[in-house]
Amino acid sequence: MAISPPERRLWWKEPLHRVEIIWIAVAFLWGLVMFFAMVYWHAYGQQNLSNEAYRVVPAAFSEKVEAMVKKYKVGEHKSGMPIVRPPPGADVYMLARTFEWYPILQLENGKSYRLHLSAMDVQHGFSLQPININLQIHPGYEMVLTITPKKIGDFTVICNEYCGLGHHAMTGRIVVIDSTAQQ
Ligand code: CUA
Repeated sequence: MAISPPERRLWWKEPLHRVEIIWIAVAFLWGLVMFFAMVYWHAYGQQNLSNEAYRVVPAAFSEKVEAMVKKYKVGEHKSGMPIVRPPPGADVYMLARTFEWYPILQLENGKSYRLHLSAMDVQHGFSLQPININLQIHPGYEMVLTITPKKIGDFTVICNEYCGLGHHAMTGRIVVIDSTAQQ
């Protein structure tokens, strides 16, 4: 108990019990394992992609998103959300705001894109399912990552950072299509 001063003032010079030293060694080694797992997972995992981050004014980011939507819009979801199909290799944008991911992106399988992500208002979490890529999206910062879809299908973006009352309903979509299919 530490309420009263220790009997011997140099208590930290007491010899360590064997059990204590074992626990310290276990904790230290496990810390090392977890540390190198981060490095390993970045190099060999599919989930912690390399990304770049830039300062951006939300209004300027929004303008770039709108320009892409205007240029490459191919349709509209029944919710009114535009569906956008930029050409392979293009810079593609997805914007987070309470409570949606905008717009719906259509990307070709096996082609690379530069994906730009930013938030308009508060912090959101970009979680791409089911492959489980996770990024924190802040207003004022533009995250850029190079992605190459490897599987055809519908991918859901969910917000995994609490952002307000509509947080649970904040979902988005990325649709990966066959690159030989006609639009
Ligand atoms: Cu956006 Cu939670």
